[in-house]
Amino acid sequence: MTIKRVGVVGFGLMGSGIAQVCAQAGYETVIREVAQPLLDKGFARVDSSLARMVKSTKITEDDAKTARSRMRGTTKLEDLKDCDLVIEAVIEVIEAKKEVFGTLDALCPAGTIFASNTSSLTIVEMAATTKRMDRFAGLHFFNPPQVMPLVEIVRAITTSEGTVAALREFVASLGKTGVVCKDTPGFIVNRLMVPYLLGAIRALEQGVATVEEIDNAVKLGLRYPMGPFELLDYTGLDINLHVANVFFDEFKDPSMAPPALLKRMVLAGRLGTKTGRGFYEYDEKGQRKPSTPTK
Ligand code: 3HC
Repeated sequence: MTIKRVGVVGFGLMGSGIAQVCAQAGYETVIREVAQPLLDKGFARVDSSLARMVKSTKITEDDAKTARSRMRGTTKLEDLKDCDLVIEAVIEVIEAKKEVFGTLDALCPAGTIFASNTSSLTIVEMAATTKRMDRFAGLHFFNPPQVMPLVEIVRAITTSEGTVAALREFVASLGKTGVVCKDTPGFIVNRLMVPYLLGAIRALEQGVATVEEIDNAVKLGLRYPMGPFELLDYTGLDINLHVANVFFDEFKDPSMAPPALLKRMVLAGRLGTKTGRGFYEYDEKGQRKPSTPTK
């Protein structure tokens, strides 16, 4: 099938990046949020990302204006009824996702493909709330979607070959590399990344080294662009705690159990860049303060 119009449900950090990437690739993109202030916030994020790309001469001002003109915000799910593909990027709560897909199933034509950007939840559980289990898959983007070149295409046991082929083509049209994987917890990247991040927190708890020393060791010793604590702050401690809980429930492996420090930091509201404090402290623009990191 030909995908011309894309719907994105959820205009947070991931939803706004995904919608922007779709619009920049030429797709008419309709974005649904639950309230106008959240749409405004999402568009402000898109504007600042496009301005950043113009400044670094990756795109021209005209490209930015054209991409922006292809994006339309709405608070009504009904406005996504003419989309050929809908990508869901709402909160990581299975009931919220099921509700979105259940409602969309009654609105969209049978041919519309549904995809979830979930990082840890089971695709087939969401697909089962619809009558289009064959046209339902995972499309897992990475943060920041505007920059990261990978998209995991998650094939549930019910996803048809035709849907996988259409999504492969779609991902390639975004200028990204698609990797097809099974519907198992964490897919490929998070399955490998989350135990590594939890291991870094345990190393900190055991006094192996400080936050900065562990980050520097990983950046210099493995050439990773960010150390584990920088990445935890960047992706959000709450998200990582949630994923660790899902993994532990599924695998019952003690190495997947969330460390006590992670739980306590989330309870204290130290979620990372988005709340101004995680393992490091940040100013209003998300820039790291030259302060002492959490020990
Ligand atoms: N929009 C547009 N452009 C952006 C951007 C954004 N939101 N964020 C960064 N960029 C661009 C910058 O403009 C810059 O472009 P330039 O080189 O042309 O000037 C380029 O990206 C590099 O950015 P910076 O110079 O600001 O900083 P860095 O070189 O440190 O790169 C980074 C930032 C790309 C985030 C890099 O640190 C990185 O790759 N970090 C690792 C990110 C990662 O691992 N993501 C995956 C997380 S896991 C995940 O998402 C899964 C989920 O399920 C949890």
